[in-house]
Amino acid sequence: MQRVLVTGAGGQIGSELTPILRKRHGTSGVVATDIRRPGAASAFADGPFEIVDVRDRERIRSLVADLRIDTIYHMAAILSATGEANPRLAWEVNVGGWANVLEAAREFSVGRVFCPSSIAVFGPETPRDPAPQLTVLRPTTMYGLSKVTGELVGDYYVHRYGLDIRGLRYPGIISSEAPPGGGTTDYAVDIFYQAIQAEQYTCFVRPDTVLPMMYMPDCIKATLALMDADFGRLSRHCDYNVAGMSFSAAELAAEIRKHIPSFVCEYAPDFRQAIADSWPLCLDDSLARGDWDWRPAYDLATMTADMVRRLKLRFGK
Ligand SMILES: NC(=O)c1ccc[n+]([C@@H]2O[C@H](COP(=O)([O-])OP(=O)(O)OC[C@H]3O[C@@H](n4cnc5c(N)ncnc54)[C@H](O)[C@@H]3O)[C@@H](O)[C@H]2O)c1
Repeated sequence: MQRVLVTGAGGQIGSELTPILRKRHGTSGVVATDIRRPGAASAFADGPFEIVDVRDRERIRSLVADLRIDTIYHMAAILSATGEANPRLAWEVNVGGWANVLEAAREFSVGRVFCPSSIAVFGPETPRDPAPQLTVLRPTTMYGLSKVTGELVGDYYVHRYGLDIRGLRYPGIISSEAPPGGGTTDYAVDIFYQAIQAEQYTCFVRPDTVLPMMYMPDCIKATLALMDADFGRLSRHCDYNVAGMSFSAAELAAEIRKHIPSFVCEYAPDFRQAIADSWPLCLDDSLARGDWDWRPAYDLATMTADMVRRLKLRFGK
């Protein structure tokens, strides 16, 4: 039986990925960890859970050794907006935590490791439409530069130690279960909650701001497809561009208005506008499509319809 470790399991992505991993590998085969304990209602509260701070190297070492872990999904991170508020913390968690996971993987010969990267690796000097796979990586946020470092050090462990490390550059992830954790694309989730509960939203980026986004089912699908792919087919390791959809904030509001005609969206850009402006409009993901058959299932219309349906059900609207 595979023994899987998930760090950051309580986050926006980890909290949806963990129950799916438990369906695949068995509940007891997947050890969820986070710096905070999940609530009793959490979708993965039924299986093994450990409090783990990824900055604690000894804790990661002993967990991987004692539980004979052979696969790791490393989801713990500090995201872009939170990282700008506390850059040192972002560096320590995103780079230091990843280094601890990589070292444990090397020392105890973990079979396969997944670590997400982000569109935040791109910066203002990157071509924006689309951002190529191989391009200038000079981000202006601490989050972005911690993710570039993560990609490079992950690739180093593949080539230097022969480990199997895999990663994707996720776009902004839209989902209806756990709230997002302090990123620049959070408006694309918040807007749905406010549209359904208050029929009004004040968006923190300009209406013409276009960013690459992806619906959670596609995020999980991409993650599992990359992890399932034959190693021999992979021409990249820790930095696959992967695209879902791209739209402006105004286009998203208009799409929501098709379901909630009285919805009003206003715009009050804050410090996150500058971060958004440094990221690309869309991504060239042709290598992901060729190497491991990536195809997204959701576009703006189908994602919006599903989000509205789920949240209306949740809030009894
Ligand atoms: N959500 C997105 O839009 C998005 C986009 C691009 C990349 N990513 C990447 O995907 C991964 C998961 O992101 P997410 O959206 O679920 O983030 P999130 O902020 O929702 O969750 C991260 C989790 O990490 C935990 N954590 C923070 N510090 C920790 C520490 N020191 N030790 C252990 N756990 C700690 C948090 O408690 C949280 O549960 C991250 O690597 C992130 O950079 C996310």
